[in-house]
Amino acid sequence: MTTTADTLLSQLQAIVGAEHARQGGDLSAWEQDWRQLAKGRALAVVSPANTEQVAAIVQACAAAKKAGLGVSIVPQGGNTGLVLGSTPDDSGMQVVLSLRRMNSVRAIDRHNLSITVDAGCILQNVQEAAAAQGLLFPLSLAAEGSCVIGGNLAANAGGTQVVRYGNTRELCLGLEVVTADGQIWHGLSGLRKNNTGYDLRHLMIGSEGTLGIITAATMKLYPQPAAVCCAWLAVDSLQSAVALLALAQQHLHSGLTGFETMESDALRLVEKHMPHMRMPIDVAAGQAFVLLEYSDDESEDRARARLEGLLEAAFEAELLTDGAVAQNLDQAQRMWDIREHITLAQAAEGLHLKHDISVPTSSIPAFVQRAKEALQQALPGARVINFGHLGDGNLHFNVQAPEGADPRQFVDTCQHQAEAAIYDCVAAFDGSFSAEHGVGRLKRHDLARYKDPVALGMMRAIKTALDPLNLLNPHALLPDAAA
Ligand code: FAD
Ligand code: MLT
Ligand code: ZN
Repeated sequence: MTTTADTLLSQLQAIVGAEHARQGGDLSAWEQDWRQLAKGRALAVVSPANTEQVAAIVQACAAAKKAGLGVSIVPQGGNTGLVLGSTPDDSGMQVVLSLRRMNSVRAIDRHNLSITVDAGCILQNVQEAAAAQGLLFPLSLAAEGSCVIGGNLAANAGGTQVVRYGNTRELCLGLEVVTADGQIWHGLSGLRKNNTGYDLRHLMIGSEGTLGIITAATMKLYPQPAAVCCAWLAVDSLQSAVALLALAQQHLHSGLTGFETMESDALRLVEKHMPHMRMPIDVAAGQAFVLLEYSDDESEDRARARLEGLLEAAFEAELLTDGAVAQNLDQAQRMWDIREHITLAQAAEGLHLKHDISVPTSSIPAFVQRAKEALQQALPGARVINFGHLGDGNLHFNVQAPEGADPRQFVDTCQHQAEAAIYDCVAAFDGSFSAEHGVGRLKRHDLARYKDPVALGMMRAIKTALDPLNLLNPHALLPDAAA
């Protein structure tokens, strides 16, 4: 007998309570993505309170699917993803499983330097829980006030401290996961060594909700540095920025905790839309700017001396056209605020195309030149807003509509041309078309085009083995077999 959508909804309401399994009304916070690229229609938005409820929801959906209902599940955290991975399509047959109610810090082990949290814990709350114990949770990104740790793990988020601490993957010690058939895998280990077979944790991290539902995680903590110093530096070219990175690594070693680059057009957009934000240096002083962060384990004095040593060497090597060192944490925070407002400034300018790419750091100047030429040939007048995590070889080579053009129409009609121009350059430099944001529903065709076919075959085999009903986020990540 076929289960109807109404029967499934009643079952879901019985599991979580009617007020936490909603259908109809204004569900746009869950049905629409952060960038407002697309709005879907969910069968229901279900918000479980604990792992057992997540397992029961998955079991109910799996049984309905086996009985012939074309239902699937879209796991959702903070819904800040930038590739349409966390929002439903418009079929009305996807259950949005929101983890946001599961938001407790379960435990902190100070001597093991680890923290165990529910998947729905807001990233900033995890950072604050660690800081309250005098410890550091180093994952940091502009969306940290609303993204949650389960979403960070499922997307393997990068952010601004990767140069020192790695991606979310490198910060994870253990996971608790509900599998696609509704079992609970108790993998919450605080171990730093464990060679007992396939590392399923790493399979789940970065799987974008297609292999299992992360319900909790044990993450690494670090001692707080004694002092953190920031500098805002003007350079005349990306070549100089790359040379400055090498010099900074030589001088500061693992104390280099941030190395962000912004071309001047990105900062001009911040000046235009956030006129209250004061630039530390006039935007005309450089073709690009670097926000460099140094963390010292000993003292403020040593931190300043080492940073000044680097800057002297950089001026001597003629890598800098100007520079400003933050005199206190407040000034440092203002530098970070400017960097982290570029995404908001781009949103205020209008809908745009995001290209979150990586190439070997040494190839960045040549890549940027070639990609800009290719883009101008394909889409004359399109405006490149280029910034990102240069320390990781990761650029946000974003493209805004030509001045005066309609942004929505530009995005709808030019996405594929822009991607072909830019991603073919990325491939020519042995890079990746998605360095940190993932694939989602937005970039599946790019995965079909650029991923090694053998790798893609292994990915499909894993998906089939772990989710034979294709219940979990079926329209995200993996391209349809025919693609
Ligand atoms: P969501 O958007 O809700 O979900 C992301 C993906 O994970 C989806 O595929 C979803 O189905 C899946 N998922 C969510 N929760 C679970 C779960 N519990 N189990 C299984 N699957 C799940 N990203 C970066 O990497 N670096 C940045 O610097 C960065 N900066 C950003 C700045 C801004 C202003 C914004 C809006 C976004 C930024 N992002 C960045 C993108 C985004 O914030 C990150 O990818 C973040 O990790 C997503 O977390 P989330 O909780 O919002 O996840
Ligand atoms: C960031 O680093 O600020 C985001 O990942 C970039 C973006 O919005 O494109
Ligand atoms: Zn980024």
